[in-house]
Amino acid sequence: MSLLFSPLKMRSLEAKNRIVMSPMCQYSARDGHVTDWHLLHYPTRAVGGVGTVVVEATAVENRGVISPDDLGIWSDEHIAGLSELTRRVKASGALAGIQLAHAGRKSGTASPWKGGKPLHQWTPVGPSEIAFGEGWEVPRELDAIGLEQVREAFVRAAQRALRAGFELLELHAAHGYLLHSFLSPLSNRRNDQYGGSRENRMRFVLEVVDAVREVWPAELPLWVRVSASDWVEGGWSIEDTLEFARELQRRGIDLLDCSSGGIVPGIRIPLGPSYQVSFAAQVRRETRLPTGAVGLITKPEQAEEILQKGEADAVVLARALLRDPYWPYRAAKALGAGKVWPPQYERAMD
Ligand SMILES: Cc1cc2nc3c(=O)[nH]c(=O)nc-3n(C[C@H](O)[C@H](O)[C@H](O)COP(=O)(O)O)c2cc1C
Repeated sequence: MSLLFSPLKMRSLEAKNRIVMSPMCQYSARDGHVTDWHLLHYPTRAVGGVGTVVVEATAVENRGVISPDDLGIWSDEHIAGLSELTRRVKASGALAGIQLAHAGRKSGTASPWKGGKPLHQWTPVGPSEIAFGEGWEVPRELDAIGLEQVREAFVRAAQRALRAGFELLELHAAHGYLLHSFLSPLSNRRNDQYGGSRENRMRFVLEVVDAVREVWPAELPLWVRVSASDWVEGGWSIEDTLEFARELQRRGIDLLDCSSGGIVPGIRIPLGPSYQVSFAAQVRRETRLPTGAVGLITKPEQAEEILQKGEADAVVLARALLRDPYWPYRAAKALGAGKVWPPQYERAMD
């Protein structure tokens, strides 16, 4: 019995399998709006058999985009394009999720194929006035009013996501972006109740989680993506993540998507197959919070084994799905999981 192709139950929803498309920026939006690229790219993965599609980091505030080509959800005007996207993803058989994001001090860079460098077009915001690295903007420290604005931006983004037909939200608290930068002592040097101790550094993120959970329907799942380790001495660690996971569980978070890194440039990460899976495994084992495993998972047997060993509840794939949108069908064949492909493709699958 394949676990990869067993349903994933989340509150009132059931994904048909445990393959999740990881959020991946497409740098193809215009003023935050969905374009034809998104309307083809995401439904293609849904047609390809992914159980849950998580749309890329989508900015809750204009000043929180990674690049000017990011998707946005900071205005009601973004809803129409996103609605068309969810309609197509759902019609193609997948659950429609979206990652809500604020890039914080890493906001304002060119898209990768336009050079990827800081554009210096606006002053980003962050927990403290510490730039991400040399040549990056020094962020403006968020004061009480600024924090309230960001919290409110996440809430309104969640409400818009619901109106656009999304069924699942993932809050982006990884990769050095705003929420992660509050968690990590490397980027958060505040002296108020939002800095210092781990409890204080978690406070703003947990306030955002509470505020979003309050407006996100009780029957729909809410995920968080975390960088489970900064991979830096004195940074955020897996022990911190375990405590964070316990707090999230109390607040009704349904799954912790365990990524890592991104808080400072130039970190050496021991890359290799399944290199982040141990984080998902440890969180699941020690806190019982469901987890998603992500990072260099490329083979069907590898994905199946992660689930069989109880290391995660879902397998989150990124680049493998860019290379091959039909990865799920190949995996089903390789694992002998039966006929999961649509009847329209039946004649190609024997
Ligand atoms: C083109 C591209 C864009 C990405 N954009 C995002 C993003 O929007 N949000 C996010 O959390 N991670 C993003 N990531 C990271 C992936 O979601 C994933 O965590 C990472 O690529 C490791 O998984 P993989 O080895 O399966 O590719 C991106 C990765 C790629 C390759």
